[in-house]
Formats: sequence, C-alpha cells, structure tokens
Amino acid sequence: MGFFVKMDKNIVWHEVNTEKREELMGHKAALLWFTGLSGCGKSTIAAALQERLSAEGKKCYVLDGDNIRHGLNSDLGFSASDRVENIRRIGEVGKLFVDAGIIAITSFISPYTKDRDTVRAKLDGKFVEIFVKCPVEECEARDPKGLYKKARNGEISDFTGVSAPYEEPLNPEVIVDSSKMSVAECVDKIYDSIKEKI
Ligand code: ADX
Repeated sequence: MGFFVKMDKNIVWHEVNTEKREELMGHKAALLWFTGLSGCGKSTIAAALQERLSAEGKKCYVLDGDNIRHGLNSDLGFSASDRVENIRRIGEVGKLFVDAGIIAITSFISPYTKDRDTVRAKLDGKFVEIFVKCPVEECEARDPKGLYKKARNGEISDFTGVSAPYEEPLNPEVIVDSSKMSVAECVDKIYDSIKEKI
C-alpha cells in the first residue's frame, strides 16, 4: 500500500485534448449510462440506440455488463463491494472513451446511486443517466436468461431485485418505461433528450 502512495507523488497528469478530438469526430462525446434491473431491456435498447447513432455517422461503442464480465471484469462477482468495483472500472473506461471523442454507451445494472453519482462527477457534464424502468415482476416474468428462476430457487445469491437491492435513480436525465413502451419508442425518447449533447 505504502508503495502505491509513494508512486502517486511521482505520477503526472498529461492533458487530453477532448475538444480537438470531438472536432475530428464531427460530434460531441458523452457517456450514456443505462441503469435498471436485469431483464429490463437495457442492452436491447442500448444496442438499438447505438444503431441509430451509427447510422448518422456518429462514433459510438456499447460497453455491456455481461460482455465486460467475460473479460476486463472477469475477476468480479456480485457482492456489494465487487459491484462497486465493477462500476468504478466502467466509469473509468467510459471516461477514456469520452476523452477519445467517442459516445460511450454503458449497460450495467449499476444498482447503487452513490456509484452512479461518482461516475457522473468525473464526467464534467458529459454524463447522461438513462433509467430503464420496469417492475421487477415484469422482468421476472420475462426472465430472458432464466436467472430470476434460479435466484428464487436459491441457486444464485445476491440477485438484484430478489435478494440484493436496486436503488432507483432520483433525478435521471431520461426515464423510459420498457413495460409500456416499445424498443423503438424508448430509443426515440432517449434520442430526443440527448441530441443537443452529442
Ligand atoms: S452490476 O450490478 O455489477 O452492475 P452487471 O450489469 O455487471 O451488474 O451484471 C448483471 C448481469 O449479470 C445480469 O444481467 C445477469 O445476466 C448476470 N448476473 C449473474 N448473477 C447476478 C446477480 N447475482 N445479480 C444480478 N445479475 C447477475
């Protein structure tokens, strides 16, 4: 630990010219942060949004919870502290994408308000919180991966919405209700609220 503290004093920050990169990209960069329960439709809506933005020639990339947990975050599980670390790393990776002038779209349950707010604070106004609202009963009825069933049977512990908490965003930039709106309607609503920021 002492080693790292000592190292910190010897590390300097090199400026990253995001504005110049945004000019080259032809659009502004942002971190579009999806949050919501497992099975609420985050990844489907995020992918559809990416398609719409890409069709306009905007450079974007989806960082998806399930995918990232196969690689970068394969050392993390679902304890509260592992979820904090999961979101911290994705916040940092998302910021790197934004520094590079890209529109980063993240799709993680990200159940804790504090962790989402920590990422927001790092992004200097370029953070857009998108809450995919869907009652847990509906997510459980959909159960696309059969995980709610396993959680109810006690085969998975700490399952969000069943045996682990989900803190709903208090003041997100966008709310889409995927139990009432189609994927296309969700994408339209998100697009309308971000179009001035990208
Ligand atoms: S987060 O809470 O740390 O943000 P993340 O979005 O990376 O979670 O991963 C959630 C995905 O992992 C779920 O969509 C589901 O497929 C899977 N999963 C496996 N175990 C759990 C669990 N205990 N709680 C929630 N999701 C789980």
